[in-house]
Amino acid sequence: MLLGREKIDFLHLPTPLEYLTNISEDLGINLYIKRDDLTPLAMGGNKLRKLEYLLKDAKDQGCTFLLTVGGAQTNHGRLTMAVARKYGMRGAIVCVDEYPGELSANLLLDGLMGCDVYLKKEDGIHSSGRLMHETVAEVTAAEEAKGEKVYSIPLGGSNELGILGYYECAQELAEQVKEAGIGGCRIICPVGSMGTYMGMQVGIHNEKLPMHLTGISIMPRPDAAAEAEEYFARCQAFYGDDLKLEINPEDWDIRCDYDGGAYNNPLKEVRDAIYYMAEKEALILDPCYTGKAFAGLLQMVKDGKIAQGENVVFMHTGGSPGISTPFHRIEMEKERECYMHIIE
Ligand SMILES: Cc1ncc(COP(=O)(O)O)c(C=O)c1O
Repeated sequence: MLLGREKIDFLHLPTPLEYLTNISEDLGINLYIKRDDLTPLAMGGNKLRKLEYLLKDAKDQGCTFLLTVGGAQTNHGRLTMAVARKYGMRGAIVCVDEYPGELSANLLLDGLMGCDVYLKKEDGIHSSGRLMHETVAEVTAAEEAKGEKVYSIPLGGSNELGILGYYECAQELAEQVKEAGIGGCRIICPVGSMGTYMGMQVGIHNEKLPMHLTGISIMPRPDAAAEAEEYFARCQAFYGDDLKLEINPEDWDIRCDYDGGAYNNPLKEVRDAIYYMAEKEALILDPCYTGKAFAGLLQMVKDGKIAQGENVVFMHTGGSPGISTPFHRIEMEKERECYMHIIE
């Protein structure tokens, strides 16, 4: 029970906390990685922690179908479908996006699990928000006409309930950090729909954990702190007496200097960060979230914004199927084909 809510436990937590020996030595910091990419079900990732709580709510309401939204290559969609299947439900993802030209990466995994993906094309007239809303309503009506009871999960699972998974992760990490003999640390995590960041931030402050959370936005946002405050206010209203907490405005540390100008865009510095992690530690990051956040971490070390000797935990939130997305994979193939040797 957390803030008065229960979950369906399917993650066998904790996920490992590992010390990255080679990169720590190279950068002059103490770098740890929290392996949330190792969560079970359909290649894992951060969304599963949120889904433990969302699934419980769906089952309590007697729902039989999980419906969610995202981009065509949504990791969150893939993991929502995984949970639906594992728990005897059907599921579908609605996206306002173009078909990427081939059924690969997350789209292929959605297909393997037998879950429907509805890609609605932009029409140049209506906003993508409106098209999304209308398509969700159409799919919901069609499924309900077949007798399903649909549970709708917002983008990234980032609503008030969704924060609980990463609240719990902050507690879990605090224990592991203590066992590792570190006094305090800075945590770095990617920020997309913000549920991961919000959950950890609320957990850290509500439980008074000796950790500072730095988020790295993976897309441009007009005012990250204002967005965080608005989301936090919704959480406070939702939990009422179970969450009596103030967070000071200066504690919303979300960096927008490393977003690369767009969501999920192919970027050389992100691919270089992915190659660096793979070459030094044999860990695979993804081009949309973890690669971008790690590129930000590297830049922060270079600029002295992360101090030499600092204890840093990098959140590996998963997403590695994204390396097969055509527009990322093609660039990586060009840059890495020098390692391919064909012997006639
Ligand atoms: C692999 C991965 N990392 C990080 C994030 C960002 O998490 P959040 O949306 O909770 O900010 C996502 C979101 O989809 C993700 O798929």
